[in-house]
Amino acid sequence: MACPLPNFMGCVVLGVFVAFAVLGSVSSSRFDELFQPNWAFDHFASEGELLRMKLDNYSGAGFSSKSKYMFGKVGIKIKLVEGDSAGTVTAFYMSSDGPYHNEFDFEFLGNTTGEPYLVQTNVYVNGVGNREQRLNLWFDPTKDFHSYSILWNQRQVVFLVDETPVRVHSNLEHKGIPYPKDQFMGVYSSIWNADDWATQGGRVKTDWSHAPFIASYTGFEIDACECPDAVAAIDNVKRCSTAGGEKRYWWDEPTMSELNLHQSHQLLWVRANHMIYDYCTDNSRFPVAPVECLHHHH
Ligand SMILES: *[C@@H]1O[C@H](CO)[C@@H](O)[C@H](O)[C@H]1NC(C)=O
Ligand SMILES: *[C@@H]1O[C@H](CO)[C@@H](O)[C@H](O)[C@H]1NC(C)=O
Repeated sequence: MACPLPNFMGCVVLGVFVAFAVLGSVSSSRFDELFQPNWAFDHFASEGELLRMKLDNYSGAGFSSKSKYMFGKVGIKIKLVEGDSAGTVTAFYMSSDGPYHNEFDFEFLGNTTGEPYLVQTNVYVNGVGNREQRLNLWFDPTKDFHSYSILWNQRQVVFLVDETPVRVHSNLEHKGIPYPKDQFMGVYSSIWNADDWATQGGRVKTDWSHAPFIASYTGFEIDACECPDAVAAIDNVKRCSTAGGEKRYWWDEPTMSELNLHQSHQLLWVRANHMIYDYCTDNSRFPVAPVECLHHHH
């Protein structure tokens, strides 16, 4: 679809019609149940349970969950942009709203053909991030679908790749460190151009002759406590906690409060073999290590 960049609004409006034509005819039921496109409707296509989202020189694209959640597990299977994906970023994340928001991020930083993608994770608490970790993967994420998920409960936030934990952010409130547990979050994904920083520190720019850049999605899963807009925030917090609520949630079971032995070993293996950056050990950025780093024994 031709749409000149300066006429962005015109593009969005025109896009609405095209998108309904595409999404309406062959739509992924699970996607439609849980999510909706929220940026560049015309950059989506779906086929059965498969959804494709594209980045081209006109626009990126994104979708968001229809509901907000507190605690539980969210996951999506993604097949990342193939070939030359330098300059592109595909993100999958949870976030609350407002200036003191919390956020749990997976960001997939594209690369030139044959060079490894990087996965950057970050955790924002009360509006403050700066907790980046970066890893490469033990597989080529452009060849097949792999699952990326986030487990969130009162004790820990766990980032998982194909069910292998790659990061744990523990609740250290007993050490006076704030933990994200009082704001409900939406679930989001997007693809956009970030060639000012994403690939090899911004040295490699997006090669638009390889556009459109397409990320494919399937396996949309949200098993979490839903927070309806109609319910007051404070009541949602109560409803979503096993202690205060009438329900007993699986993610509050004692076995979910920390990694089991097998998972601890998996995390050690990931950190030893695949981690290439950890804010906790970046002395030039943080001459004094961030306080949670002294306590995160992983
Ligand atoms: C975007 O890409 C298309 C296809 O390669 C090209 O024809 C068009 O001129 C480009 N537009 C801009 C604004 O760069
Ligand atoms: C891209 O590949 C280069 C060379 O292997 C590597 O140093 C870099 O970490 C990779 N990822 C990104 C996002 O630059």
